[in-house]
Amino acid sequence: MKLNIFLDEKKTVAIVCNQWGDTGKGKFVDYFAKWADIIARGTGEANAGHTIILNNKKYVFHLVPSGILYDSLGKINVVGRGVAFDPRAFIEELNILDKENMTYNNLKISLNAKLILPCHILFDRLKESNAGANKIGTTGRGIGPIYVDHYDRKGLTVNDMLNKSLFEKKLKKNITENLSLLKNYDKEMIKTILMHSHLENGAFYNEETILDIPQIINYYTENYADKLRKYICDAEEFLRENVHKKKILLEGAQGLLLSVDHGSYPYVTSCDTTISGLTKGVGLSEKDVDLNLGIVKAFYMTRVGQGPFPTEMGGELSDKHCSSNTKDTERATYPNASLNSEDELQLGIAVRYIGQEYGATTGRPRRTGWLDLPLLRRATITNGPDIILTKVDVLNDAKKIKLCTEYEYNGDNYYYGDKLIKKGDKIKIAIVDSLILGRCKPIYKEFPGWLSEIKNIKEYKDLPQNLKNIVEYIEKDCNVNVRIISVGAERDETIIKG
Ligand code: IMP
Ligand code: MG
Repeated sequence: MKLNIFLDEKKTVAIVCNQWGDTGKGKFVDYFAKWADIIARGTGEANAGHTIILNNKKYVFHLVPSGILYDSLGKINVVGRGVAFDPRAFIEELNILDKENMTYNNLKISLNAKLILPCHILFDRLKESNAGANKIGTTGRGIGPIYVDHYDRKGLTVNDMLNKSLFEKKLKKNITENLSLLKNYDKEMIKTILMHSHLENGAFYNEETILDIPQIINYYTENYADKLRKYICDAEEFLRENVHKKKILLEGAQGLLLSVDHGSYPYVTSCDTTISGLTKGVGLSEKDVDLNLGIVKAFYMTRVGQGPFPTEMGGELSDKHCSSNTKDTERATYPNASLNSEDELQLGIAVRYIGQEYGATTGRPRRTGWLDLPLLRRATITNGPDIILTKVDVLNDAKKIKLCTEYEYNGDNYYYGDKLIKKGDKIKIAIVDSLILGRCKPIYKEFPGWLSEIKNIKEYKDLPQNLKNIVEYIEKDCNVNVRIISVGAERDETIIKG
């Protein structure tokens, strides 16, 4: 893969996702990590999952930047202030690296990163268990509650772990305030959650006080802070000193449609997953980025968890199916599901199976749907026009490919500021408002599939004409530049379009 055409002169490259995450960012983050001197994360937390192969074994990492695999080459990996940092999850990943004899000497953790506490994980799980139909489908890693604390000005940072008496003071205040909220919840359920391995199998539980404050303080200072101390520093200052001098890769997490500010609220994560959140999360500005590449899975999309998904194959049936099935049960129930199934639910199952669309963090089947151009137009307004199409080979055997080119609004009159949205209105650029999205009916344009293997093709001009027709339609219709096309999982199964 020759990316020189992009990289001459470029000093800071960012990779973000323009959809609901899980778009195959990992492959390109890895590619650009090889080019970069510094790899920095500024968003996402232990909810994000990226799969990494070490010595032929597959591991799911959540928090360490993907460039950690190049630590021994002297590359510096940075966890920025925008990351919600769970020291237990982080140390677990360092232990895997130890086991595989991989180094992490050049790791830097921002002293400003938000510190996940046991009560965040507890509240996340309690809230979801009690939410019934209002469930978000979170990953249970404490993300929502840590942001509540942050904006309520009672959050702690990684640096707080390093100063024991101050840590004690802040932690006591935080936990005492949070404990008062626990009275609304069932005691047995609280206990069960606190026994989870993500909560050190009960180490923080106390029969009388529920959360054992002295034990939490000891655990955090002795088991976590002492191990991590030498990596904690002013990472933002480090990046500011190096920006425009060293080659920096900013590694995004999740996707724009899951952004708390720009996504399908409230069915979102709790940080800003756009290029703007990413740069802020490492202490830089968007102006520092020379090239921002937005990943787009093609020509289908996926979503994990609840929330509107206009092009979902099989609609509501698929949503229900995904919350009550696993990879194995759906294969057993629908052994003949194929990319050419007339039944949309089965078509969605086939896409999921061929694309291996099962959550890296939770194992949940991801909901599948056709590529939605109104959402793409909206995403690229924020993340910029340069995109990478990934996983195109998943649809090699599909006789027809459908693109959602616009929506027809199919609900009650709704005021969206000074606009009145009425039944039958056509929408070209998605309004990322859950209520509106939930009432949008996709209008599709059908394209004939290319029906051939493409993974060995190296040049854009050699791709099947039927595939190029779709790519060029998207570029023209959405005003985007497709810069790279991924035609297989391997590193060299990639076409640089330029
Ligand atoms: P939370 O981030 O755990 O609070 O989950 C909120 C929503 O974001 C849920 O719908 C999750 O499934 C979704 N989500 C969080 N992280 C990821 C990710 O890395 N990929 C895809 N979806 C995610
Ligand atoms: Mg993922």
